[in-house]
Amino acid sequence: MSLRLIPPVLLAAALWLGGPVQAAALVLPQPAELQARLRLQAQVVRVIEPHLSQAGRDVRRSYRAYPAPALLDELLGRAWRASPEAEIEFRALDGFVSRIPVAQLLRFPAFLAFARADGQAFQVDNHGQNERQVPLGPYYLIWDNIAAPQLRAEGGAQWPYQVVQIQLRPSSQAALLPAGMAARWAEQARAAQTYCLSCHQINGYGGDKMPLNLALRARQIEAGQWQRWLLEPAAVKPGTSMPPLPPGLPQAQREALATQLRDYLLALPLAEAKPAATEARP
Ligand code: HEC
Repeated sequence: MSLRLIPPVLLAAALWLGGPVQAAALVLPQPAELQARLRLQAQVVRVIEPHLSQAGRDVRRSYRAYPAPALLDELLGRAWRASPEAEIEFRALDGFVSRIPVAQLLRFPAFLAFARADGQAFQVDNHGQNERQVPLGPYYLIWDNIAAPQLRAEGGAQWPYQVVQIQLRPSSQAALLPAGMAARWAEQARAAQTYCLSCHQINGYGGDKMPLNLALRARQIEAGQWQRWLLEPAAVKPGTSMPPLPPGLPQAQREALATQLRDYLLALPLAEAKPAATEARP
């Protein structure tokens, strides 16, 4: 029987029993160990590398990688596929967190890479974050954006590297679209998730790389300053590791996105700062 057919009531029971869908994060085995354990074959995946590509200049790279859905089946069991609104959290050593909806992993070709296909060092320059020769291992989530060109505009926002842990987590909707908040903000909540929350937080939810509460900071920064900072942080603070909104998007769309993110953050009710808030409202 396909686990996609798990009745919602069982899933609800699992949620109730474990809090999150999967109680503890899975520490990924090193690539050699994983390879020995898996029934899966690694494959060569060619992508347009978003960390190296600049407007109008695509740089292609090939990686050795496992298809993410098949790998997750092996690591988590097929149950992770059952609730499309749940999320897989990819956590890096430095606190960078990417939460990718299950639906997206099932819809677009995602892979977990562990080496370059040409045997060169497994590292990349990250132009957006002013960082050079960044190690990518042990694992790097990549997307076949040649087969799925609609993924290119987002840039590298959903390409977490140095991934050491994965975990199946409930939907982030409770934190990002709390009860009483109009559903029309759903798109902005998703954009914040994609572009900001791998490093920052909203009312306790998000990454630990720079765990600043955006809902609070948006109330403290004046609109023009906010706009300049999001569009080109390096122009405001040279050498910052905060990436700009994706340079691959048309400028008008980037400006609109910056404004909408601010409007959304101002519309969010501000939760009181509590030390334990990170996991309190998943
Ligand atoms: C890769 C990590 C990363 C991502 C993604 C990121 N930021 Fe940042 N952000 C930082 C860092 C690091 C700083 C601290 C800036 C510094 O000191 O260089 C920062 C600082 C800020 C600040 C504080 C600026 C100030 O003047 O106090 C705001 C506001 C902010 N980010 C908003 C955002 C928003 C909104 C997004 C999404 C569109 C975002 N950030 C995405 C890393 C990130």
